[in-house]
Amino acid sequence: MSYPCTYVIFGATGNLSRVKLMPALYHLESAGKLNDETRIVAVGRRDWDDERCHAEVKDWVTNKARDGLDEALFAKFSQRIRYFRGDITDPDSYQRMRELLIDNSDFPDNIAYYMAIRPAEFGVVAEQLSKAGLLEENHGWKRVVIEKPFGYDLESAKALQQRISRYLREDQIYRIDHYLGKGTVQNVLVFRFANTMMEPLWNRNYIEHIQITHSEQFGVGSRAAFYDDAGAMRDMIQSHLLQVLTLVTMEPPASMDSESLRDEKVKVLKSVRPIPPKAVHAHAFRAQYTDGVVDGEKVPGYLQEENVPTDSVTETYAALKLYIDNWRWRGVPIYLRTGKRMAESQSIVSICFRHPPQQFFRDNQYNQMRQNWVLLGIQPSDCLRVEMTVKEPGLEMKTRPTSLDASLRRIDEARTDAYEDLLLDIIEGDRSLFLRYDEVEYAWQVVDPVLKVWSTERDFIQTYPAGSWGPEESRRLFEKESQRWRHTLDPEQD
Ligand code: BG6
Repeated sequence: MSYPCTYVIFGATGNLSRVKLMPALYHLESAGKLNDETRIVAVGRRDWDDERCHAEVKDWVTNKARDGLDEALFAKFSQRIRYFRGDITDPDSYQRMRELLIDNSDFPDNIAYYMAIRPAEFGVVAEQLSKAGLLEENHGWKRVVIEKPFGYDLESAKALQQRISRYLREDQIYRIDHYLGKGTVQNVLVFRFANTMMEPLWNRNYIEHIQITHSEQFGVGSRAAFYDDAGAMRDMIQSHLLQVLTLVTMEPPASMDSESLRDEKVKVLKSVRPIPPKAVHAHAFRAQYTDGVVDGEKVPGYLQEENVPTDSVTETYAALKLYIDNWRWRGVPIYLRTGKRMAESQSIVSICFRHPPQQFFRDNQYNQMRQNWVLLGIQPSDCLRVEMTVKEPGLEMKTRPTSLDASLRRIDEARTDAYEDLLLDIIEGDRSLFLRYDEVEYAWQVVDPVLKVWSTERDFIQTYPAGSWGPEESRRLFEKESQRWRHTLDPEQD
C-alpha cells in the first residue's frame, strides 16, 4: 500500500489521460496499491461535473482494463475522482484549487501535479502553482510530473529548466520517460549486472555493433499538430531510444540508488562522440511515409493525414549512428532507428557479436560462420534471447542458428503497463526511473547537430511506402557492407 496522495492531473480530458493515466491508476486500484485516502483531481476546461467525468473515465478504463471492467472496483475507484473545471492560465483557477486542496481535509497533503498538457504550458502552470502557494511543503510533499518532450532543442530545454527551477527544486521534478517503466528496459540492468556470464563479453572486444529499433504500424493519427513540429528524432530518439542506449551501455553503478544510476547514464551521454555538421549525412537518415498497405489495409501517406501541411518535410522515420568514445565502447557503432507506419510494431535491442576468430569449417559450404546475437525484446514480447550456432542433426556438418530463450514473463504472468510502475514510483518518491535535468541536456546535445542541419534542408525528404521497413537507402549508415537492419527476434535463416 502506498502513501496517501492527491494526484492532480492537468489535461485530464486529453489523450494521455484517457489512454494511459486513468487506466494505469485503475490498475493500481485493482492491485490494491492505492491508499484508501488517495484522491484524484481531474483538471480540464470542459464543462463537466463529477458525474460526467466518472462516466467518461469509465469508458476509457473499460477500453483498457486487462481483465475487463470490474464494476464494484470501478465504483470504489471513481469515488476518488473529483472533476475540477479550470483554465490553466487563469490565476483564479489556482485560488479555487487552493481552497479545494489545501483548505479542505478531504485531500491528502502530499500532492503530485501531473502535467499531461502541451510542453509550452509547463512553465505557466509551475508559476501559477507557486504563486497560489500550491507548491509549499509545510504539510506534505509537492511533486510535479513533466511529460516529454522537455524542450524543443538544447536551447529551449535550458530556458524551460531555468523557468521551472524558479519554483521547484530538482528533487520535486519527475521528468517522465515511460520507456523506463517497461519491463524489459528495467531488465536490461538485471540481465547485465545480475549475471556474471554477460559482463566480461559486454564491450568492444566481443560486440561488433548494437541496434536499437522502435517501429510502429500506426501513423500519426490525431496527433499531427504536435508531431509535425516534432518529428521522429525528437519524438522517439532524443528521449526513449537514447534512454535505452544508456542502460545498455553504462558502467555498473556504485549502487542502485537513483543518483548513482543517473550519474552513470549521464556519463554515457557525455561520451557520445559529437556529430559535426559536415558528418550529419553519414550519421543520420530521415524519411517520410507515403501511402501503402499495413496489415492488409490501405492507409494514406503522411502528407494526406489530417492537419499535416501538404509541403511538410517532417520525418516519420529516423535513423542515427552513434559512437561512444570510452574504454568499453570505442569503435562500436550503435544504430538507433524508429519509424511510423512500418511493417510491424515492435521495440527490440539487437546486440551483434564479432565473428569467431577462426573459421573451423572452411572446407564445407559454411565458410562464413554466423555471428551470435543477444536480443532484448521490449515489446510486444518481453523477452531475452541469446542466439547461437549449433550443428544440424544428420551426417553432414551443417549448422543453423538457434536461440536460448530467457523470457521475462511466463505465459500466466500479467503484463503491467509502464505507467503503473511510474505513477507508483512518484508516490513513493523513487526517482531512479525519471530523468535528471543533466540527462535531458546531454541527450539534446547528441541530436541537436542533426536537427540543426535538417532544419535548413527544407525542400526534400526521402520517402518509404507505409507498411515497409523504411527506405533501403538508410543502409548507408552501416559501417560495413555485412551489417544489416535486424527486424526480427527469430533466428534469421540463410
Ligand atoms: C510516445 C511518442 O512518447 O511514445 C509516440 O510520442 C510513440 O509517438 C510512443 O508512439 C511509443 O510508446 P509505446 O509505449 O506505445 O511504444
